[in-house]
Amino acid sequence: MASDRGRATEEVGATVETEQLQITSATPDSALLDLPWRLPLADWPTDVLAALPRGISRHVVRFVRLDGRVLAIKEISESVAFREYGLLRQLRKLEIPGVVPLGVVTGRRDDDGEPLEAALVTEHLAFSLPYRAVFSQALRPATATRLIDALAVLLVRLHLVGFYWGDVSLSNTLFRRDAHQFAAYLVDAETGDLHRTLSQGQREYDLDLARTNIIGELMDLAAGELLDDEVDEVGIGDALIARYSELWEALTGVESFASDERWRVAARIERLNDLGFDVGELSITTDIDGTTVRIQPQVVDAGHHSRRLFRLTGLDVQDNQARRLLNDLDSYQAATERQEEDPQLVAHDWLQNVFHPTVRAVPRDLRRKLEPAQLFHEILDHRWFISEQAGHDVPMPETTRSYVEHVLRHRPDEKAILGLAPGEEDPDDVAEPGDPEDDHFHLST
Ligand SMILES: Nc1ncnc2c1ncn2[C@@H]1O[C@H](COP(=O)(O)OP(=O)(O)OP(=O)(O)O)[C@@H](O)[C@H]1O
Ligand SMILES: [Mg+2]
Repeated sequence: MASDRGRATEEVGATVETEQLQITSATPDSALLDLPWRLPLADWPTDVLAALPRGISRHVVRFVRLDGRVLAIKEISESVAFREYGLLRQLRKLEIPGVVPLGVVTGRRDDDGEPLEAALVTEHLAFSLPYRAVFSQALRPATATRLIDALAVLLVRLHLVGFYWGDVSLSNTLFRRDAHQFAAYLVDAETGDLHRTLSQGQREYDLDLARTNIIGELMDLAAGELLDDEVDEVGIGDALIARYSELWEALTGVESFASDERWRVAARIERLNDLGFDVGELSITTDIDGTTVRIQPQVVDAGHHSRRLFRLTGLDVQDNQARRLLNDLDSYQAATERQEEDPQLVAHDWLQNVFHPTVRAVPRDLRRKLEPAQLFHEILDHRWFISEQAGHDVPMPETTRSYVEHVLRHRPDEKAILGLAPGEEDPDDVAEPGDPEDDHFHLST
């Protein structure tokens, strides 16, 4: 009798335990419940996993497919998971490029009722590359510099909103191609902290850590013969500090000039626009006798070109890609002699007659190799190249055919250089993310 009661209690207990699994999310998705949370992440079956390039990390991180989306799951302690989730959400509100947090899963238990670690769920950042996947053989000096430039921009943006990162490194950053440059995204916010503003000391400390980490990462690459001999590890680490300081000064520095040189206000704004920033607020002060003017940007927002392109076309792309597309739109406007027309109408026609047909002319399976805006950018480069060879302007349809046959098909396959640890997924099985067009283009109405 007593033992019967004992069993009943056990059964009830087991039911309660299954119900203990908790998903905390601002955008709850019940499909998440279908994932095998009762297994340690390292043991998840390959049929739910998506083998995509992943950087080095202390924690177990896996990508899974769910309802046509790809999610990134990281196993960490509950308190750290909630902290990182909260920080990523705040950074998203501040429009910082970073991974998008989806939720935290807690109360996990295995089949024996033993507790398992909590999990942080983020959206997989489509078309992103861990830095080791950016280069196909060895990291060359020019590529290293472009990675550092992108990281410097991200760090400045984070510092402008008061975020102290605490562990800036190439591994904690994801890169996306952005025309001839890269755009950097924050992936690991675990060590970060959001303040109202950062002191110079805090910024310098963060920067110094970044330099040390980067030099270490480059030395690791050198030890594994993945670094071009020409790359100077310490030089690249120093370059980050130089780039950061230059940009910080351009964005926040005080400029003084004589009061009859007021054109310098407009020139400063233009310079910032050129760097891809909009000036939200600029303080202008004069000294007592009015002979000297001082200006200092108070609020600057990144994304100058991408905002303009978005307003005109509804295309949501990165800043350097947007700059490239806007240039093409400008030349379309000039070539069709429509300078006097409403820019939005011209932009609409450019989308219908140039942008969309070009992207659609790329075979679907190859289109997945790059974001549409990046494809378009490369096709423009290719047009310049073959037009120069031909001695006349080659039209877009012909350029696109030539680009597909001679360039895109032969592009080194980024997915084949994952630097996987022994026993991990076979690089040949690497799957592609969902259709880029569906993921990245929002047409405004
Ligand atoms: N949402 C995401 N999209 C794409 N890749 C991701 C995403 N989340 C994680 N990754 C990949 O997983 C790697 C490890 O993630 P993360 O840096 O958060 O782990 P970690 O264990 O906290 O790292 P660390 O060792 O620095 O503490 C990243 O470098 C990145 O390549
Ligand atoms: Mg990390």
